[in-house]
Amino acid sequence: MPTQNHLIKAPFDPSPYADMVEELLNKMTVAEKVGQINLECVDDFEGLTEWNLGSPAEEGSIMDKLRRGCVGAVICRGFEKNTKLQQIAVKESRLGIPLLFGYDVIHGHRTIFPIPLGTASTWDPSILEKTEEFAAKEAYSDGINWVFAPMIDLCRDPRWGRVAEGAGEDPLLASLIAQAKVKGFQTVNPDTGYPYVAAGFKHYCGYGLSEGGRDYDACSINEQTLMMDYMKPYAAAVDAGAMNAMSSFNVLNGEVVTASRYYLTEILREKFGFGGFVVSDYGSVAELIEHRVAGDLKDAASIAITAGVDMDMASGTYLDHCEALYKDDSRFAEAIDEAVRRILSVKFALGLFEHPYNEEHPEFTASSESIELAREVARKSAVLLENKNGTLPLDKSKKYLLLGQLADSLRNMIGTWALCSPELPHHTVKGAMEEGNYSFVYHVGYPMDESEWDADLRASQFDEVLSLADECDGVIFVCGEPESWSGECSGSATLEIPGIQTELLRKLKEKGHRVTSVLMCGRAVACREISELSDALLLAWHNGSEGGAAVCDCIFGDCNPSGRLPITFPYHVGQIPIHHALLSSGRPRERYGRYRNCTAEPLYPFGYGLSYSEIRYNGAVIDNPTLSADDTLRVRVEIENLSDIPVCETVQAYFKDNVSSVPTPERKLCGFAKAELAPHSKVEVALLIPASRFALMTRDLREIVESGEFTLFIGHDSTCKLSLPFTIE
Ligand code: NOJ
Repeated sequence: MPTQNHLIKAPFDPSPYADMVEELLNKMTVAEKVGQINLECVDDFEGLTEWNLGSPAEEGSIMDKLRRGCVGAVICRGFEKNTKLQQIAVKESRLGIPLLFGYDVIHGHRTIFPIPLGTASTWDPSILEKTEEFAAKEAYSDGINWVFAPMIDLCRDPRWGRVAEGAGEDPLLASLIAQAKVKGFQTVNPDTGYPYVAAGFKHYCGYGLSEGGRDYDACSINEQTLMMDYMKPYAAAVDAGAMNAMSSFNVLNGEVVTASRYYLTEILREKFGFGGFVVSDYGSVAELIEHRVAGDLKDAASIAITAGVDMDMASGTYLDHCEALYKDDSRFAEAIDEAVRRILSVKFALGLFEHPYNEEHPEFTASSESIELAREVARKSAVLLENKNGTLPLDKSKKYLLLGQLADSLRNMIGTWALCSPELPHHTVKGAMEEGNYSFVYHVGYPMDESEWDADLRASQFDEVLSLADECDGVIFVCGEPESWSGECSGSATLEIPGIQTELLRKLKEKGHRVTSVLMCGRAVACREISELSDALLLAWHNGSEGGAAVCDCIFGDCNPSGRLPITFPYHVGQIPIHHALLSSGRPRERYGRYRNCTAEPLYPFGYGLSYSEIRYNGAVIDNPTLSADDTLRVRVEIENLSDIPVCETVQAYFKDNVSSVPTPERKLCGFAKAELAPHSKVEVALLIPASRFALMTRDLREIVESGEFTLFIGHDSTCKLSLPFTIE
């Protein structure tokens, strides 16, 4: 019987390494200690050649710093480069302490999986554990032993470009995914008995709340919602044993996180039990000056180190000022010693003192299994948003007009934050259609930058499109946003897709063409017009190395789409923030909370997604409708596949606390389970929901489950109607 995932609880424990760490710490000079808390970015290796390594290093160069023990970690990839750097650290520095090699491995390393917001649409933590295991192995083989991932910032404002990197709006889904990813990254290498890489979750904390979706901007939120929702994925990553956390750039509730002892120490360590080390985000220690909470760099270093930032990423501030701070004041000396202990513990936990050098495994890189997994995950990440009159699946024997620059752009298929992918042979929708011998003609349809086509060019190109469409049996219109519109520093004030694309679609519809639109994007977009005009609409996201093949699999019926939205798709940008777990209003939202010029409803709700099958919910039973706060609610749901093809259904459960001492959401996700159904079959799905998921956060930040009456909603998405009462005693 399919059941659901559960959260685990086994934070990283540094205590087994304590004696070795202490022994080493006692041998270290202050300068060497400061070296350990310094992360250098040496990603551009122009000039770091054999010849350079062989010659006496210039003072201040990376080799010089490594030899002097002034570097604890570097941002760098490349098996040979990292091996050479490690050799210098291990063989030529006084104490031979190995380096950490950190890198951004956000959705795969060489094999690229869909963007994380896309893979969250699988609602399948176990497959994401696998993707990260593959990513970890590829990264390890490329000289990396620490990943700046998973990115798990909860986000309910898709104007923020980095929404692409996270798992969407819901704390439970994001927490389960966070745990799976941490476990996947920290998979143990059977050759060494130690994890391939350390996972560094980010960006702690509240970064996804940046006001107006403007990257790096300040965030303000009440502490109840912060703790109840936004903090949950970080706490989950801690529980899964993540060895590292990255602090975020932003101001949160009146404090710069990089300077916040409250968030970095009291909450992260003392409350969540984090035992690893915290690295700052890039340059953010020095940015305390721009925030005007530090007067100079020494001040910035003192604030960050005492707040709980153990390692300074790339600003050089610790390197330049911590030695003096150490000597100035025992408070700083203690903080620096503690930071060094945490970093060394992780180095021991990774087995770097025994196995400082990664092994190169060419068979890990873009292996047939990882490519197959990328295709499977891309298929499972695709969300079928519309399928009017059974437009999909398309008939493979017919001829199609494949339309759109996005259908022929590798970079845009891959998505944001894929730093090492271009060396791989991946294919676009056009490439996949060629390889699959589909009958089609291609037209670029629109430029990514609308201004490139003046009115005349637009008219002549559209005419060409229309006459090509006349020769075909249908149109596959690949539309949406380029990858550069999401990711870091890529906020968007609008959420509509470019007007030229809608205009083209309108023209095709005016001529009566049947159009299947494939939407590529890195955020929740306000795609109302595309959705109204298209006969079918498949949300593909930016879906990685095997994205093109996966799109073909979905639209031509080689798989039955099963993705579900991990974030609400708004009707209009002005509705932001909009999500499924809004608190109740005293007056019905549909009537009083609506906009004068827009519905209060989203375009597509959280959890939404169609398939080619009709699924019927035959009923649900709660086995223990009265339970205690430390019990588990046991629910059984019968679902039926009324179609003649197999389907995967994600059964979702939401709850409402009927009467509570503080306001609570109208409904909120509390469990889900995926079930595979053969054609014309029924299955009983078990949902085991720990009562702790029905908790609320009191004004004084106690997470408690109150006794009383609750309502459980079960079904296909967050608007599901089937409801059952239960009571917590
Ligand atoms: C800044 C980004 O915010 C962070 O996510 C990334 O890991 C670092 N740069 C290093 O590339």
